Amino acid sequence: MTHTSHFPADFQWGVATSAFQIEGAAYEDGKGPSIWDRFCENPNNIKDHSNGLIACEHYHRYQEDVDIIASLNLDTYRFSMAWPRVQPLGHGAWNEAGFDFYDRLLDALAKKNIAAHLTLYHWDLPQALQDAGGWLSRDTAYRFADYAEEVARRFGNRVATIATHNEPWCTANLGHGNAQFAPGIADEKSAIQVSHHLLLSHGLAMSAMRAVGASAKLGIVLNQWTADAATDSEADRAMAELEYARSVQWFMDPIFKGHYPELALRAHGENAPVIHAGDMDVIHQTIDFLGVNYYFRAWCSAANPPLPAPALQGVTDMGWEIYPQGLTELLMALQAEYILPPIYITENGMASADQLEDEKIPDTDRINYIKMHLDALSQAIEAGVNVRGYFLWSLLDNFEWNSGYAKRFGIVHVDYATQTRRLKDSAVWYRDYVSRQRVAT
Ligand code: NOJ
Repeated sequence: MTHTSHFPADFQWGVATSAFQIEGAAYEDGKGPSIWDRFCENPNNIKDHSNGLIACEHYHRYQEDVDIIASLNLDTYRFSMAWPRVQPLGHGAWNEAGFDFYDRLLDALAKKNIAAHLTLYHWDLPQALQDAGGWLSRDTAYRFADYAEEVARRFGNRVATIATHNEPWCTANLGHGNAQFAPGIADEKSAIQVSHHLLLSHGLAMSAMRAVGASAKLGIVLNQWTADAATDSEADRAMAELEYARSVQWFMDPIFKGHYPELALRAHGENAPVIHAGDMDVIHQTIDFLGVNYYFRAWCSAANPPLPAPALQGVTDMGWEIYPQGLTELLMALQAEYILPPIYITENGMASADQLEDEKIPDTDRINYIKMHLDALSQAIEAGVNVRGYFLWSLLDNFEWNSGYAKRFGIVHVDYATQTRRLKDSAVWYRDYVSRQRVAT
C-alpha cells in the first residue's frame, strides 16, 4: 500500500487491556469472585481448560508493564477495573486494598505521562450479584451506578476518560444468548432483556458520575461492524439490514436517539425487552466520547449452507476475516446516521500464532493488519470523522476468554511459564510508526 497516512497532531496513540485478561491475583487482597472466575471452574467452558487465576500476573507486574508502554513511546493506556476487586460483593463494603492497586497503577502511569482510560465493566461481574440474578435483574443496573459513582469520586480527576461498558453486545449475546461467555446462559429472551439492563445501567451510571463533577470524559465502548450482504438477493440484503439493526443500531439508537430500532424490535417479537417508563430517557443522554472496537465485518448469507466471506486479505488466528475497509465504511455510516461525539478506536488488533525464533517474534501479519487498519482509519478522518485516538488490542498476550491462552493478541509476547515479556516485531514497528507520526505533524 503506497498511501502514507497522516494523523492529527494531537491524535492519541495507545494500547488496551482488561482486568480479568491480565491481572491474575484472582483472590488476593480481598478480591471477590467474578462470574469469569466461576465460569472457568468448569474447564470445558474454556478451549484450553485454563483460567484467570494467574493470567499475566499484571497485578504484581504492573510497573514493568507500564514501563513497556512508556518504552513504546505511547501516550495513552486503556484498561479496566475489576469490580469485585474494589467491591467484592457488588454492593456494600468497598475493598480498600483493591482500590490501592488502581491507585498505584494510576501513579505509575502519571509518572510516565501516560493518560489513563478506564473501563468500569469489562465482563467480570461480582459473582454475588450473579447469584442474585445478574444482569437479568434490574437491580444490578442500580448496583452498577453506585460502583460507577464511587470510582468517579475517587479517580475521576486522575483519568482522561471513563467508559461504563465494554462491548455490551458480547455480555448480552455471548454471555446470555449462546453461553460462550460467563455466566453461560443460552436463552435469546434473556439476552435481549440483559441488553436493556446494560443500557439502563450505562444511563444510570452516566447520571451518577456526572453528579460527581469530575474532569474525566464519560462514555461507552461498543463493538461494531458493517453488515454486508453476500449477494444482491433480497434475502441476503434483508439479512444484512437486520443484522446491523440488531447489533450496531440496537445499542446506538437508544443512546443517540432514545429508542430501539424498529426493525430489530419487530424481529424480536415477544422476546422484546421489558422497558419501564422513563428508561429510554435515562439511556438517551449526552456522552462525551464513543469508543468503537473494530475487528471484522458481518457477512450475511441466507443460503444454506451460507456463502463464506471472501476474505481476500486473509483471516486471523481467530478465523476472523481481515477487512480493513470495513473500518472506514463503519465510521462513515455512523457519521451519516448519528450526531457523534469524539470517537476513540478503543480496540483493533489481531490474534496470530506467534512463535519465538531466536529471541524474536516476527509477527509480520500483525504489522500488516495494523497498518491496513490505520490507513483505513485515516481515510475516515480525512473524510471528516472526528477520531481522537487509537488503542491497539492488546499490549500483552493474555486470557482470550473462552479461547484461553491459545490465541495471542499482544504486541508483547508473554511466556506464561516464566512471565517473561518480549517485544514482538509489531511492538517495535508500532513504536516507530507513532514516532514518525509525531515528527510528521
Ligand atoms: C474484544 C474484547 O473487548 C476483548 O476483551 C477481546 O480480547 C478482544 N475483543 C479480542 O477478541
